Order: sequence, then structure tokens, then C-alpha cells
Amino acid sequence: MTIIAPSIPGTAPGAQSAARAPLRIVPFDAPVGAEVLGLDLNQPLADDDFARIHRAHLDYHVLVFRDQRITPEQHIAFSRRFGPLQIHVLHQFQLPGYPELLIVSNIRENGQPIGLGDAGHFWHSDLSYKDKPSLGSLLHAQELPSEGGDTLFANMHLAWDTLPAHLQKAVEGRKAEHTYLAKYAELQKRNPWRPDLTAEQIAEVKPVVHPIVRTHPETGRKALFVSEHFTTHIVGLPEDESRELLAALFAHSVRDEHIYRHHWAEHDLVFWDNRSLMHLAAGTPDHLRRKMYRTTIEGDAPF
Ligand code: SIN
Repeated sequence: MTIIAPSIPGTAPGAQSAARAPLRIVPFDAPVGAEVLGLDLNQPLADDDFARIHRAHLDYHVLVFRDQRITPEQHIAFSRRFGPLQIHVLHQFQLPGYPELLIVSNIRENGQPIGLGDAGHFWHSDLSYKDKPSLGSLLHAQELPSEGGDTLFANMHLAWDTLPAHLQKAVEGRKAEHTYLAKYAELQKRNPWRPDLTAEQIAEVKPVVHPIVRTHPETGRKALFVSEHFTTHIVGLPEDESRELLAALFAHSVRDEHIYRHHWAEHDLVFWDNRSLMHLAAGTPDHLRRKMYRTTIEGDAPF
């Protein structure tokens, strides 16, 4: 059964900032995730609080900061504490004046999409198609639908730890190709508003090869690192064998017992670890509006 985070008594929007409680990390009753209480990102962040957040991010992989009424500048500044930021290849969907912020939204203005409406339609780890995929992403709720719009996270350490031995043996030491273009044409067919990529954009997202089992550079834990969205094939295997093996890895990764489902509340900021997780946007009914801002922090080359 997919587990949804319980709401914690006394944490209604505004409660923690008004009470100025000391910072607390409350793990969810789920395979990943914790809520960070007593933090207002409008205030300067003390070094010891930053260190606790950093530790909690490594331990729980998804951190939820409720009711953060922050500006784009504050979102960017907090994200930069963890590393340099990456700029998404779809420059069309940057927040004007803030190239580090990608607008993830199904809203159209004057017939034009204001953001990437189908980001997260397939399970993925952000920017796994880069030489240096993302360390983590921070998604900030701007406008939420009255129903739908959840985000699901799959724990890829658990996926590796629980992978049947014959599958572990089949993939250990192997590499797979990731490319941004893997599902682009399919997404464009479903969503004709998706822009054609220019030659410059295509050159920005050349296919890359990464280990199928990666080691988290900060914790040393192993994780599966292939996704439905961006992984095309396993290097050195015949096409049908590669397809079957990838299908088995994808199916195992997203078993219910590996998943936390985030139901968004106004002004939530959610920070996840792309080295430990895959995520999926569950979708928003077309007649409802959803708008989020996302930053993406650069990580290391997977090993
Ligand atoms: C993403 O894939 O970063 C978007 C997730 C979401 O909109 O829920």
C-alpha cells in the first residue's frame, strides 16, 4: 500500500514560524521522507541548522518544509547552499529573470504554456541525462489544484537492497545509456505544446552512460540508477535482453513498499535527493491549475 505522510498535530500552516520552535526533524511513517519543523526560510539559516538539514536530507532523502512564503531569490539562495545550480534545457520555461528556476505548470496564458506541464510524467531522477546528474531538487508550491497534483518518490536504495539476487547479478558492473530525448517525441505527441528542440538544445543533452548501480557519494549506500523516462538501454546487451531487464528493474523500483506519496499544501517546499530516489508527478486534472518553481542542484558524476 502506498503510504501518505500523516499530518503532524500543531503543524498547521504558519504554526511553526509563529511559535519559533527550535528546528525538529520528524520522519514520516513511510520508506522515505521527513518533515522539517521550526524553520522559516525568510530568516537567516544558522550553520548548525544547515548541518542538521543536510544530515536529514542524507538520512530521509525527501524533506518537506511547510508554509515557506519565500521569494524566488530566497528559494535560489537556499538551494545554492547545497551546490551550484543547473539550468534546464527548456529555457522557454524559466521564470523570467531567474534562469535557475524552472516553472513546472499546466497553466496556459493566451494559449501558451507558462511552464513545463508534463514534467515528471514518467518516473525519473532529475537530469540523469547529464554527465553530472542532479544532487537534488527543490520544488516550491505556488498554486495548487483542489484535487490531484501529488508527487511520488521511490527509494532506490531499498530498490537495490531488495532486488532479487539474480537481477543484482545481472546488472552489477553494467552501465546504461540515459538521454533527455528518450521519451521526447512520445511526450510531444500527447502534449503538442511541447516545443521542438533547437540544434543548440539538442547539443546540450547528448546521451550519457552511467552505472546501473551507483554509490551515493556522501553515504556510500548503493542505489539503482535507471529510470523509465531517461534510460534507453543497457550497454553491451542485445536489445530484447536489455529491454526485459530494464522492465524488471523499473517494475521492482516502484513497488508500493518503496514509495512515499506527497500531497501538497500551500507554500510547501520539498527537497529531494536525486541520487537516492526517482520521482513521478501523479498528474493534475486539465481543468485545474498547478504551478510550481523548481531549482536543481548539480551533483557528481555517478560511480
Ligand atoms: C518534476 O519532475 O520535477 C516535477 C514533479 C512534480 O511536478 O510533481
